[in-house]
Amino acid sequence: MAICGTRPDAIKMAPVVRVLQRHPAFEVRLIATGQHREMLDQVLRLFRLTPDADLNIMTPQQTLTEITTRTLEGLDRLLRELPADVVLAQGDTTTTFAAALAAFYHRVPFGHVEAGLRTYDKYQPFPEEMNRRLTAPLAEFHFAPTETARQHLLQEHIPDGRIWITGNTGIDAVQWVAQQPYEPTEPALQRALTHAGRVLLLTTHRRENWGEPMRSIARAAHELLQRFDDLLLLLPMHRNPRVRETLTAVLGNHPRALLTEPLDYAPFVHAMRRADLILTDSGGVQEEAPAFGKPILVLRETTERPEGVVAGAAKLVGTDAEQIVAESVRLLTDADAYAQMARAVNPYGDGRASERIRDILLQELRP
Ligand code: UD1
Ligand code: UDP
Repeated sequence: MAICGTRPDAIKMAPVVRVLQRHPAFEVRLIATGQHREMLDQVLRLFRLTPDADLNIMTPQQTLTEITTRTLEGLDRLLRELPADVVLAQGDTTTTFAAALAAFYHRVPFGHVEAGLRTYDKYQPFPEEMNRRLTAPLAEFHFAPTETARQHLLQEHIPDGRIWITGNTGIDAVQWVAQQPYEPTEPALQRALTHAGRVLLLTTHRRENWGEPMRSIARAAHELLQRFDDLLLLLPMHRNPRVRETLTAVLGNHPRALLTEPLDYAPFVHAMRRADLILTDSGGVQEEAPAFGKPILVLRETTERPEGVVAGAAKLVGTDAEQIVAESVRLLTDADAYAQMARAVNPYGDGRASERIRDILLQELRP
């Protein structure tokens, strides 16, 4: 049973589901919790995946408790009806934590895809750090993307024999999408692709950035548009109304700010490739952008993905407007500083993580 609920869940589980579906030893049941609606469906369509069941839990401005309880109750029901040998989910969403708990209550082994990422700050990212930490002791299979992640799990007394370094399945997904033929049809992407000047790509949605920090991020983007008249801002906005209100209030009227609906994954990948600079608080984008050789400024105080920072492709800048502007200006005016960050590196995987997970499950679940 493979479970996904949000956009990144679907992106990172899709390659795993596809690889398992193609192997005769597995009968795969894909369950959507519907923690996200439109943003989940966008991804499932792209990967041509149809869930066997959909809990459809999303409500406007849902609380963490609502997501947890509805997912837990829904999966409890499903696990009674559909026996499973293993339950799989990825990363740090509340869908994933609740899936691990539901599997545990049913004594079904849980496989954690993208295990072991940590900041060791309980509230950053919130609630994702605790979702990850609480999922770990519930899991039987820990698919760690990197050696750093493995080390975290070992520190937490997860037995070495239960941890496998697989790479991140998000890299499998991004490579697959980048290879698909694609005709840009979204007006915003077309405008970015044909823009003669430079393109700044911005995404922000984290709970700990809601309110003042996000206003500060938006003010920084506005300031950059004022300083560089060749700059075009492409800002695909998360569907959360709290995010949209803030971004629209500050940037909504600027002629070179393209505030759009969330882009489908394929156009978003092309937007990353076109961008000259990426500003983001996203987890997944931090993993993908370095693979395209794009400098990335991370709009957070801390990250559970230090590998990109260590490799020099990413820099933590926080949410202070002055700091974001200063670091961006440096990259937009100093060719050497830009070139130093724009070396393509991919510390997160080689595109074969899903195959490794399949082979481990084949080995470990042998009857
Ligand atoms: C969730 C995850 C976060 C992940 C992010 C990816 C949790 C607690 N948070 O945060 O880890 O980084 O997804 O995007 O698991 N909405 C829609 N349509 C959609 C999606 C969201 O309208 O397709 C709106 C709804 O009003 C919803 C709100 O956004 O209530 C927030 O969604 P939620 O899943 O609670 O939080 P995210 O910030 O999306
Ligand atoms: N993404 C997308 N469309 C967008 C913005 C992002 O398809 O408009 C993709 C992005 O490439 C990455 C994933 O969504 O794979 C990241 O999701 P998000 O930032 O919502 O969540 P996080 O990774 O922070 O949990």
